Amino acid sequence: MKKLILAIVLCFTFAGVRADEGMWLPSLIGSRINDMRQKGFKLSAEDIYSVNKASMKDAVVLFGSGCTGEYVSDQGLLLTNHHCGYGAIQKLSAVEHDYLTDGFWAMSREEELPCEGLSVRRLVRMEDVTARVAAGESFDEIKKQAIDEGYSASIEQMYYGNQQFLFVYEIFTDVRLVAAPPSSIGKFGGDTDNWIWPRHTGDFSIFRVYAGKDNKPAKYSKENQPYRPARHLRISTKGVKEGDFTMIYGYPANTQEYVISDAVEYVAEVSNPMKIALRTERLDIISAAQEQDPAIRIQYAAKHAGIANAWKKWQGEALGIKRLGTIEKKRAYEKEFAAWAADKPEYAHLLDSMHAAYNVVREWYYMGELYAETGKTIELCAMANVLHTAKMRYDNLPENFKKLYVSYNVDVDRALAKAVLKGFERYCPAEKYPAALRAEIGKYGGTVDAYVDYIYDNSHATSFEKAAAATKEQMETDPAMRLFEIFTFDKKMYRNMSNAPEVERWYRTFMKALREWDKERAFYPDANFTLRVAYGSVAGYEYADGEYHNPVSTLDGIIEKDNPNIYDYNIPQVLRDIYAAKDYGRWGEKVNGRYTVPVAFIATNHTSGGNSGSPVINGKGELIGINFDRTWRSTMSDIEFDPSICRNISVDIRFVLFVIDRVGGAGYLLEEMDLR
Ligand code: ARG
Ligand code: GLU
Repeated sequence: MKKLILAIVLCFTFAGVRADEGMWLPSLIGSRINDMRQKGFKLSAEDIYSVNKASMKDAVVLFGSGCTGEYVSDQGLLLTNHHCGYGAIQKLSAVEHDYLTDGFWAMSREEELPCEGLSVRRLVRMEDVTARVAAGESFDEIKKQAIDEGYSASIEQMYYGNQQFLFVYEIFTDVRLVAAPPSSIGKFGGDTDNWIWPRHTGDFSIFRVYAGKDNKPAKYSKENQPYRPARHLRISTKGVKEGDFTMIYGYPANTQEYVISDAVEYVAEVSNPMKIALRTERLDIISAAQEQDPAIRIQYAAKHAGIANAWKKWQGEALGIKRLGTIEKKRAYEKEFAAWAADKPEYAHLLDSMHAAYNVVREWYYMGELYAETGKTIELCAMANVLHTAKMRYDNLPENFKKLYVSYNVDVDRALAKAVLKGFERYCPAEKYPAALRAEIGKYGGTVDAYVDYIYDNSHATSFEKAAAATKEQMETDPAMRLFEIFTFDKKMYRNMSNAPEVERWYRTFMKALREWDKERAFYPDANFTLRVAYGSVAGYEYADGEYHNPVSTLDGIIEKDNPNIYDYNIPQVLRDIYAAKDYGRWGEKVNGRYTVPVAFIATNHTSGGNSGSPVINGKGELIGINFDRTWRSTMSDIEFDPSICRNISVDIRFVLFVIDRVGGAGYLLEEMDLR
C-alpha cells in the first residue's frame, strides 16, 4: 500500500512538473486551461485570447524585430526590456545627451522622443487555415481579407507543415521613448552576469505607442494621440513568492523539441563547439583592445555583447544536452518508434530517409554556419559592399556614411580578420576550401596574415575619407570587395538545419507519426516567432550538489556587487544613497528577514529568445514582472526542457516601479498605470 501511495505521489509530482514544458498557441489554450487552473490561474481561456472581446492578447505586442512588449495603461504606455529598447535608445543618444549611460526620463508627453524605424505589432487574430490550404486555396487568397481590412498578415507552419495558421497583425510605427534607466541599472552586470542567476539587472525601458485620431496605426505626426489599447495589464504590487503561478505571454522565436538525434548531435558536437571556439578568439581580441583603450571599449561594447550573448548560450546548451544525455535518450526513443513503425508502410523507412537527408544537408549547412561565423563577420568587407552599392547611386558619398565608422577601429578589425580567416582554414574541410580564396592568398603574400595586411593596406573602405575619394571602379575592384564576394554563400540558410526543405519534408510525416504513436506526450508546435503562452511557477533550484539557488534577488545583492572600478558593476550614486538611507518608500519590504527592495526572480516557464520583454502574469492576470533571460545551464530547453533545472529570469515589476519612482523621479508615470 505504501509503495502504491508513493508511486501515485511520484507520478503526480512528475506529471505536475512536466507540464511546465510547452509554448502554447493562445487560440488553443482551452486545451491547457484545466491544468493552468489547477496550478493557480484564476481566469478563463477567453480572458487570455478572444476574437470577440478584448482579451489579454490585446495587451501583448511584438516589439521591434525580436522582442515582446506589454501595455500597462489605457494611454499606450508600453513596457519592454532595456536590451530590447537598446538600439532605439542608442540611436537617440549623442555625446552631449547620452541616454544609454545616463538614462532618459520624459517628464511630459512633449518630451517623449519619436523612434524612427521602430514598430510594434498587435495580433488581431489567428486562425487555423490548414483545411483551406489543403483545399487548394493559395496563401495570397487566404491573406486577402485581412489585407483588405488594412491589416498585415502572414501564414506560419506548425509541426513542420502539418498545420498552417494565419496571423493577422496591426502594425504601429509611431513609437516614442518615454523612459530608460541608466545602463548601470538597465544593463547592470553586463555580459559578466548575462545568462546567470542570481541576477540583479533592472532590464526595462518604457515606450508609448501613438495612433491617429481613429486609434488606428498612423505615420509619425504631432497630431497623433496616445494609442488606446483594447486591454492593458493591471500591475500587482503584492510581490511574488516561491510556488506562485506565473504565465509568460510573448513571442519565442525558435525551438526544436522534436528533432531526432542526428540534429542534436550536430548542434552539441559540431555546430556549437565550432561557433564557440571561433567566437572565443574574436572576443579575446576585442576584450584585449578594450582594455588598452577606453574609446574602443565604448565602440565595441554593443558588438562584444552581441557576440558574447549567443557564445555563452551555446556553451550552456552543449553542457545541458550532455548533462541530460539528450542524444542517447533520443536514440532510444527512435528505436522504440522504429519498432512501432516497422509494420506501417507509411512510416517503416522514415528514420532511414531522415538520416540520409541529414547526411546530405549537414555538409552544406555546416559550411553556411562556418561562413557566417568567419568571412561574413569581417566588417571591412561588409562596409566595402555597402560603399560599393552607394557609389553606384551617388556621385558624392553622403555625409551620413560616416556613421559606418563611429563604432569601428581598423586595427581591431584587421586582427579579427586574421583570426577568422585562420579559423576558417582550421574548420573548413580541404575539399570545400574556396579556390578563389586560395588564389587570392597565393597572389598576395602567401599567408593569411600577409593577405589580410594587403587588404587593409590597400582597401578604400578603411575610412570615410578614402571611400569618398575612391571611384566607382576602384570600389568595384577593392580587395575587401573581392573577399566579400568569396564569402557569399550560395545556398539559403534556414532557422535550423532541420528546416532545410530536404529534411523538413520528412519531419512532416514524422510529426504525424509521433502524434499517432506517443499518445502520452503533450504536443505543442515549436516556437516560430508567433504568440505563445507558457506557464509555471516561481521556483528556486539545485544549481549544483548542495547548492540551492533562491528564486528571489534583492537590492542588497546589487550593493554587494557594486564596485566603481568594474564597469559592469558601477551603480549610480543615487542608488547608493537610497540604500544607505534605506529610503525605499512604498517599495521596501522584508525579504528573508532583511528590509530591502526585490529585484528579480526565477520561475519554471518554458521561454526562448524573443520572450525578452514578455509580461510575467500572476494567477489573477496581473503583471508581476518582465521576462529577460534564462539561466545559461537551462538554455538546452530549446531542444529538451528539464523542469528540474530550466528557469526563466524576470525583473520584478516592483523594482521597475521603484526605479521609475525613486531613481528616475518620474513617479507621475505610475499615475496612469493600474496598480493593485
Ligand atoms: N541573454 C539575454 C538574451 O538572450 C540578454 C541579452 C542582453 N544582455 C547582455 N548583457 N548582453 O537576449
Ligand atoms: N534575452 C533573450 C531575448 O532577448 C531571452 C532569453 C532567452 O533566450 O530565454 O529574447
